[in-house]
Amino acid sequence: MDLFEVISQRRSVRSYQDKAVEEDKLAKVLEAARLAPSAGNRQEWRFLVVRDAELRQRLMEAARGQQFVGDAPVVIVACAPEHGHVMSCGHPSFLVDVSIALEHIALAARALGLGTCWVGAFEQQPVRDVLGIPASVEVVQLMALGYPTDWPEPKDRKETAEIVCYDGWTA
Ligand SMILES: Cc1cc2nc3c(=O)[nH]c(=O)nc-3n(C[C@H](O)[C@H](O)[C@H](O)COP(=O)(O)O)c2cc1C
Repeated sequence: MDLFEVISQRRSVRSYQDKAVEEDKLAKVLEAARLAPSAGNRQEWRFLVVRDAELRQRLMEAARGQQFVGDAPVVIVACAPEHGHVMSCGHPSFLVDVSIALEHIALAARALGLGTCWVGAFEQQPVRDVLGIPASVEVVQLMALGYPTDWPEPKDRKETAEIVCYDGWTA
């Protein structure tokens, strides 16, 4: 699959096979995160890989009971241990940096035949409690990872003309 195929075939997967992710594939998706760009190359991120079934079950509870979080064989908990840096544009860099790395994971996973789903619907402190994450660390997102039972149909997207303008803002 070339990159554009990977991008166009990625889906949010919410139904997973009861099948472990091979170590070499897991290592590749984590390498994709490691190679992601970050503001000032700070790389202020840490990825907790959760495979233990009981921990995944508890993460599911912290993620508004979303069943697939407990079913996926791997849940990656993306954290920012340091999160004070604000770019001159006024935005904190950690949210952008961690998000880029997570999408690297999602795309690398798809290239390897694995599905992912971003999980933003979770509560910070319960997730910290499950994994012993210090209160000073921001839990940015969770990402489910595993073999899909099937690949969902693509979701609709806005037309290009609705989201792109050239050489100046057009309403
Ligand atoms: C930041 C972010 C948070 C998300 N949180 C959740 C979530 O908590 N639960 C869920 O089922 N999907 C979640 N999603 C997946 C979106 O619903 C999904 O990307 C969107 O509907 C488009 O579908 P697609 O990814 O299959 O193209 C999240 C996606 C992003 C980017």
